[in-house]
Amino acid sequence: MKILDGKMLSSKIEVQIQKEVEFLNQNFIYPTLAVILVGDDPASASYVKMKSKACERVGMNTLTFAMPSNTEEEILLEKIHELNIDNKIDGILVQLPLPKHIDSSKILEAICPSKDVDGFHSLNVGRATLGFECFIPATPLGVMHLLSEYAIELRGKDCVVVGASNIVGKPLATLLLNAGATVSVCHIDTKDVSIYTKMADIVFVAVGKPNLITQEMIKEGAIVVDIGINRLSDGRLVGDVDFENVAPKCSYITPVPGGVGPMTIATLLQNTLQSAKTKLKR
Ligand code: GUN
Repeated sequence: MKILDGKMLSSKIEVQIQKEVEFLNQNFIYPTLAVILVGDDPASASYVKMKSKACERVGMNTLTFAMPSNTEEEILLEKIHELNIDNKIDGILVQLPLPKHIDSSKILEAICPSKDVDGFHSLNVGRATLGFECFIPATPLGVMHLLSEYAIELRGKDCVVVGASNIVGKPLATLLLNAGATVSVCHIDTKDVSIYTKMADIVFVAVGKPNLITQEMIKEGAIVVDIGINRLSDGRLVGDVDFENVAPKCSYITPVPGGVGPMTIATLLQNTLQSAKTKLKR
């Protein structure tokens, strides 16, 4: 069993990004990510902090706009509009989930697609489906980078994605399909998830439920990619996979923490860099 080491790969990517940021700076381009955080969800606040710290590590500018949980939708839309037309801003990210009174789709659709470094705008989602160049959501793209680093071939493989969110499951299924895999997507209404996981060469899990994937659900030699992040009552951070019992059966597995999480952050930085680099051509 080998560990898919996202911490190591993300550090390598950050070094590369840092060099590219220095090059852009020499050309008077200063990559800048704007992050909007609405409300006081501690997990969201912690993710936003991790994102801005990562920007600082690679020399990118980051602006965080923290808004109270009762912020009106219209105020948020105004903020997005302001950032859309500000040439200094290369990427705009609205941390999800948003408070219930705000229509998330409306907010994500208001972000200029050329600054949508999260890749959540319908234009980027559509382009990703067609395999066109676009912003691709950081978590699924980070997973693809991680598999590629370990030369894991996807063409012809049987893959199952457990969890069908717009942020992770659906875009990941799209990327896997475009890479030539045969893809099943399981979700809350799937009758028996284990039917799919048992026959899969590669199992991806993004649900948010500790120990959802147990050793009986995995075939010998499978690859397991755990995209879940759960904080237990004792403070420990775990994924969706019963790592201790599943790992011995796997050829490769991601740890939590240190697997997909750091890859998400590194890929967000890459997307922001990609956006800033378009200024070189102008
Ligand atoms: N909430 C959980 N994951 C993400 C993400 O990748 N981007 C944003 N904006 N919010 C999230």
